[in-house]
Amino acid sequence: MAEQDTLLRIEGLCVSFPSGDGRVTILDNVSFEVFGREIVGLVGESGSGKTMTSLTVMGFLPPSGRIEGGEVWFGHDNLLKHTEEEMSRVRGREIAMIFQSTRSALNPLMRVGDQVARVYRIQRGLGVREARKEAVRALNRMGIPDAEQRARAYPHQLSRGMCQRVLIAMMVACEPALLIADEPTTGLDVTIQAQIFELIKDVQQATEASILLITHDLGVVAETCERVVVMYAGQVMESATVEPLFAKPIHPYTQRLLHSVLRVDKTVEMPTADAGLSEEVAYSVAGCRFAPRCPRVLPRCWEEMPPRELAGVDHWVKCHNYE
Ligand SMILES: Nc1ncnc2c1ncn2[C@@H]1O[C@H](COP(=O)(O)OP(=O)(O)OP(=O)(O)O)[C@@H](O)[C@H]1O
Ligand SMILES: [Mg+2]
Repeated sequence: MAEQDTLLRIEGLCVSFPSGDGRVTILDNVSFEVFGREIVGLVGESGSGKTMTSLTVMGFLPPSGRIEGGEVWFGHDNLLKHTEEEMSRVRGREIAMIFQSTRSALNPLMRVGDQVARVYRIQRGLGVREARKEAVRALNRMGIPDAEQRARAYPHQLSRGMCQRVLIAMMVACEPALLIADEPTTGLDVTIQAQIFELIKDVQQATEASILLITHDLGVVAETCERVVVMYAGQVMESATVEPLFAKPIHPYTQRLLHSVLRVDKTVEMPTADAGLSEEVAYSVAGCRFAPRCPRVLPRCWEEMPPRELAGVDHWVKCHNYE
């Protein structure tokens, strides 16, 4: 593999939220990187902190959330040191995000073509007519049939899959270096999902942007991503290129995740937390938060957070007792 430049480097990120009388650390020492021109899958069961990680990168953490430590390097800038004004310049132009709920991200009162055209006007400084033309061209490139006509529709007149294509068109119009897509196909039917992932791959190739793809679906990761980062209860357990991770996962959590998926069929979703083992239990562990569920747990796993160790070429793991 050619030498890769690091586009995004998250280092030791800790984020807390109020809980009862105190605060709970929902991101605990999160570290991983996204290199230039690659698609990275961020996986983990519900509540593992995938969305909060990306919202922190975007500077969109809810007001009650507090950054307790860490750095988010984008190129030569630590985004956590940016003012809101500096962040708003980064958003859209450098980093764009597609959120979990699609339709609410579009303005219901504005024709979709105008929404895309607006991006061309604001971000690229095009005039009204030119921007409109570019918008139709972009919608067409996103595989929207009769783009000219569809551009005049309002979001509620389009299917959710079409709305997602409109959103992707808007993101691409900004020419961001990094696109974060948070569960971009939730609620869409399987055929449409597959088309959206194909589209994301095409977009990556055409724009040379890097993409951080948040998903529950390991099948999608296997087909779409170059690398994968596995989170559990706010901790990154393992990260590696896709092939070695799928062939030889080394963290007990990743092993369990893959095992449970392979046992059924590959489109099945990840297991939700075991009954009786709530997030609070995991969060209360001082060491590895997977300890309460781990078949290989050692006494020190409860007390000491394992360091991030290199277990192979670009294969990182946090475990006191990995295979
Ligand atoms: N506004 C909030 N206030 C307090 N805690 C929150 C808030 N939003 C999220 N959390 C908590 O932060 C943790 C991480 O949530 P996050 O939404 O990042 O998970 P996720 O991995 O994206 O899950 P999903 O797959 O369901 O989208 C969870 O424990 C969640 O309960
Ligand atoms: Mg989420």
